[in-house]
Order: sequence, then C-alpha cells, then structure tokens
Amino acid sequence: MTSSKRILSGVQPSGDLHLGNYLGAIKNFVSLQKEYECFFCVVDLHAITVWQDPEQLADKSRDVIASFIASGIDPKQNVLFLQSQVPQHTQLAWIFSCVARMGWLNRMTQFKDKAGKDKENVSVGLFSYPTLMAADILIYLATHVPVGEDQKQHLELTRDIAQKFNNDFKTDLFPIPEPLIFGEATRVMSLRDGTKKMSKSDLSDYSRIMLCDTNDEIIQKIKKAKTDPHPLPSNLQDLNKRPEALNLFSIFASLNNLSTEEVVQNYAGKEFSIFKNDLGELIVEKIGPIREEIKKLLADKAYLDNVLKDGKEKATIVADSVLKDVYDIIGFAKP
Ligand code: TYM
Repeated sequence: MTSSKRILSGVQPSGDLHLGNYLGAIKNFVSLQKEYECFFCVVDLHAITVWQDPEQLADKSRDVIASFIASGIDPKQNVLFLQSQVPQHTQLAWIFSCVARMGWLNRMTQFKDKAGKDKENVSVGLFSYPTLMAADILIYLATHVPVGEDQKQHLELTRDIAQKFNNDFKTDLFPIPEPLIFGEATRVMSLRDGTKKMSKSDLSDYSRIMLCDTNDEIIQKIKKAKTDPHPLPSNLQDLNKRPEALNLFSIFASLNNLSTEEVVQNYAGKEFSIFKNDLGELIVEKIGPIREEIKKLLADKAYLDNVLKDGKEKATIVADSVLKDVYDIIGFAKP
C-alpha cells in the first residue's frame, strides 16, 4: 500500500529556526526530496505542549514553511502542510496512546529534560508528545524519517508502536520506519557550551545562529563563540576531546559538504581566530541568501497560504485512507 520510499518529517513552530534545525534536518530534507516522496509538516500541535502566544502562532507556522522553501524544498514536488489542519494525526495519536505503554514513555529523555524538576506542572501533552509524533509518521505509512540526533529515541518509540500495533492486530499495515540521521552536524551544539545542544529555548542569543540573523550578527556570534586556548588540532582524536572546537568544525564541514577530517587537515595548527573568520564568512555565504528568501516569501502571505492549502488537501487524501484502514482493523462500527 505504501510507496516504497516515503518520508515524513516535522519541525515545531515554537520560535525562529536555528542552524541546528537547518543542518540537522532541513538541509537533509533538501537533498532527500529527489529520491523520496516527501511529506514535511509544521508540527503546531506539538508546539502547544508548552504555551504559545495565540497572536503569533499562525505567523510562526508560516515562518517555518517559508524557511523550508527558502532552503530549497520544492513546494510543488513535496507536500508541505500544517499538522493542525489534518485532524487524522490526532485521531491516530489517541489510538497510539492506547498502544504505547507507560513504561515506554517514562523512558523518554526529552520529556525528562524538558519537564526538569517541574514534572507535576507540565502539560499531559508534553508527556504523550511521542505518541503524536508516531502518528505523524505512521498516518502516511512513512518508511523513512530524516531528523537530528536528538529525535532518535522518539523514532525508536515510533518503531515500537508500529510493531506492537501490527502484532496486536495481526496486520502488516504499518512499516517500521527508519531514521535518517546523517551529515557532519547531526547534533549542533550551543556556541556558549559545546556540551549542550543548540536550542530555541536557551536563554542566550549568543548560543545559536538563527536563520534570520543579519550578517553582522552571524559574524559577532562566531567571534564570541566559546573556544579553548590551544592551537587548532591536527587530527580527529584531538578534536574529539575539545567539544567547542568539534562543534565549530562540524558546522564548517556540514555547510561546505566536506568531512570533518578534511576541515581538520586544512586548519591543522592554525590560530582559532583565522578559522573563526572563515567560519563566520562561510555561514554568511550559506545562510544569508536563505534569510533574504525567507523575507521575500513572508511578504507574500497569499502564496504561502496557497502552498498550505494544497499541502493540506494532498496530505488529507493519504491520512484519511490510512485512518479508515486503522478503524477497520481495530473493529470500530462503520458509520
Ligand atoms: P524540533 O522542532 O525540535 O526540531 C526540528 C528538527 O531539527 C532537528 N534539530 C537539530 N539537529 C541538530 N542539532 C540541533 N541542535 C538540533 N535541534 C533540532 C531535530 O532533530 C528535528 O529533526 N519532535 C520533533 C518534531 C516532530 C517530528 C515529527 C519530527 C514532530 N513530529 C515526526 C519527525 C517526524 C521536534 O521537536 O523537532
């Protein structure tokens, strides 16, 4: 029933996108679109697991769609849509919350990180979040899911849910989706602390490069990025022991489509300041045009809304048909 190679991936509209989102996910979406049938969605229902300003939510979703297109995702060849506009996701998510076990969800490290010490006060949605993510993927019978390293555990849970549903109901409806985590920057780290992930929620603006940063901001942030006092390493083993340098080298490699090892060879023994200069310029060269394209696209709301309308229609056709099969398999009475 499913096409042999179908992708679904999602990005939250919970703030402007940063270099981690771009290198860990969106850049890979661009390269995969030629080979796979792709569904890319803005997961606005996931975003509301924490408070979102109702005045801004729709615009933030458009920002993500504009970032997809500006990065090179073709809106004609791929299905771009908003999760909240295809209600079959939430219908399947309920069913999956009856398939997934409490123990499985209790093991999710992202929930533990996000809830921190305030477990009793976070939303139920934050806890059951991965069942909605599994539904996002499996409602399209997606076979492959490109994501950054931080989503790996959620993908494993998705595979467990697909497997248990298939076993419980003696069906082979759901494929067991493969994560696609690749490139030199699958986990981009904070520019202030090479042991912490680059994230939207970090309080310091200097911890991340945003896709909307000006050229000056990019150069300043890279200049101020935390480093260590040693000359640049001459081999990978040395680099791997230096988290801040490793992060900056991985970013450089990923943006230039080189291996990290090649970057090490090119800069062996040189001063950090020379490398930082080149890195700042490289980011400006690669991200600057995307930023300008995002601005142009955001000025044409009608165009973006048309892309979303088209995406919603295409996504709904597939999601509706899969949900009907799921209802039949579970044995719900037919209307
Ligand atoms: P989100 O919105 O946090 O991030 C979107 C994508 O960006 C990747 N990413 C990173 N990659 C490398 N380094 C980083 N520092 C970094 N930060 C973020 C994420 O891995 C992700 O690929 N739960 C997901 C959204 C989601 C989803 C889905 C993804 C909902 N349903 C179905 C795939 C399939 C999330 O919160 O991503």
